[in-house]
Amino acid sequence: MGDARPISRRDLLRQGALGGLALGAIGATGGAILAACGSSTATEATSSPSTTAPADDPRAPWWLEGNFGPVHTETTATDLTVTGTLPKALTGLYVRNGSNPLQGISPHWFLGDGMVHGVQLEAGKATWYRNRWIRTGFYEHGGGLGATGAPGGTATLSNVSVVNFAGRALSLGEVGAPYVLDPTDLSTVGPSLADAGTNNNMTAHPKIDPVTGHMHSFGYGFTQPFLEYRVHDAHGTLISNQPVTLPKSVMMHDFAITESDVIFMDLPVLFDMNGAIKMVSDPASGAVPYRWDPTAGARIGVMPLGGPTSELRWVEIDPCYVYHTINATRKGGDIVLDVCRLDSAFGPPKLASSSTRHRWTIHTAGKDLTFSDHVLDVPPADLPTTDPRHRGRPWRHAWLAELNSRPGQIAFAGCQHIDMATGRLDRWVPGPGRFGGEWLFVPDGPGEGEGWVMAFVYDGSTQRSNLVVLDALHVSKGPVAEVHLPVRVPYGFHGAFVTV
Ligand SMILES: [Fe+2]
Repeated sequence: MGDARPISRRDLLRQGALGGLALGAIGATGGAILAACGSSTATEATSSPSTTAPADDPRAPWWLEGNFGPVHTETTATDLTVTGTLPKALTGLYVRNGSNPLQGISPHWFLGDGMVHGVQLEAGKATWYRNRWIRTGFYEHGGGLGATGAPGGTATLSNVSVVNFAGRALSLGEVGAPYVLDPTDLSTVGPSLADAGTNNNMTAHPKIDPVTGHMHSFGYGFTQPFLEYRVHDAHGTLISNQPVTLPKSVMMHDFAITESDVIFMDLPVLFDMNGAIKMVSDPASGAVPYRWDPTAGARIGVMPLGGPTSELRWVEIDPCYVYHTINATRKGGDIVLDVCRLDSAFGPPKLASSSTRHRWTIHTAGKDLTFSDHVLDVPPADLPTTDPRHRGRPWRHAWLAELNSRPGQIAFAGCQHIDMATGRLDRWVPGPGRFGGEWLFVPDGPGEGEGWVMAFVYDGSTQRSNLVVLDALHVSKGPVAEVHLPVRVPYGFHGAFVTV
């Protein structure tokens, strides 16, 4: 239970048979990946859980090593130790999603089964920690891609984000339908197919308008319609689902809104059917279902908030990739959009770059859109968060996960706070051997940026993680509180503060 012992090929095949895993999804998996495998059974630990990080192994891909490697146990721990003082206003559930392959192997860091890690905070106390796999269709069929056919609907990894909307906590993936979570114990309630339109997919990065309470989102797919734009009202009811004409299926991870606009990014990471087939038949091949193809062109699309999508206008830009927008706002005839920009994604290592913050300005007043790009010179960072009360409106503050990556290997560092009014960059570095991830801003006070940012911080010396809380406007002062967990939390993606 819960250890990270290497398992034999016989073990893996037996688990696959018991779990309904198609043997084709294992293929001719080499010893390199098997050596990094752990148990596939979702056992629960309530005391002395062991979540030792897999040791570095030159034969294993980086996302199965160290604190990128999956944990193999679902843990429940209560009455957690806190150092410092947890702000009393932080009453709710901090929960973060990530990729945690059920079978211990995955063809890419992005392509493991979703696991959420949550810490319940109540008036200065940390009452419990839980981690739970999302019980998706893929999970129920043994985990991993390809176990139940093409992704979409319940065939999802649901491993990217959590969104707190209209009284529900939704686990979201790159594609597929949202899954509803029970915030009292992180169990999976079930899929919400009604939210996934007609193409059965929903982005992991919907945007909630702070004035109307509407949730704007999209879903992209690998077959027509390649893209749909949606609006949910503040009560959570889907009130609009409109197809968007795209010539091809592209990986569209994020988008942006202003108080009056929707901004899409049609960037040249294309769906690759050959890569998808090879990945499923041979997960050790390194094949993935996306490929970088700058000849496909890159463009930004702008249309009225709410639609109609027939009014979408496009402007060509230089090929690049953006996983995450920071925020956008309209200034007269211009849209100002800050992004974390990469020179490429899913391309050759020689084309890889650090994620750099750029300010894009889209001039919308004329007959044709025009575009300008300004580099904001800050240390590499991504996974941005802003004050949700300023979504789509003028904003001053942003927080990002600082990165020390090299080509082909993500490396997290500390927290960056950027004050756009002064240009000041404030940073907190966790210290030797400690590494953060996405910092989530939670408001606590009337002004923009008044509140807290929090993230799981991993300590390599203890192989445990803490939930670290920083004063959002004074991050360099260091933690105001740390919640000590009895386990490590693997590096992951996006979180939410759930108060339903
Ligand atoms: Fe993301």
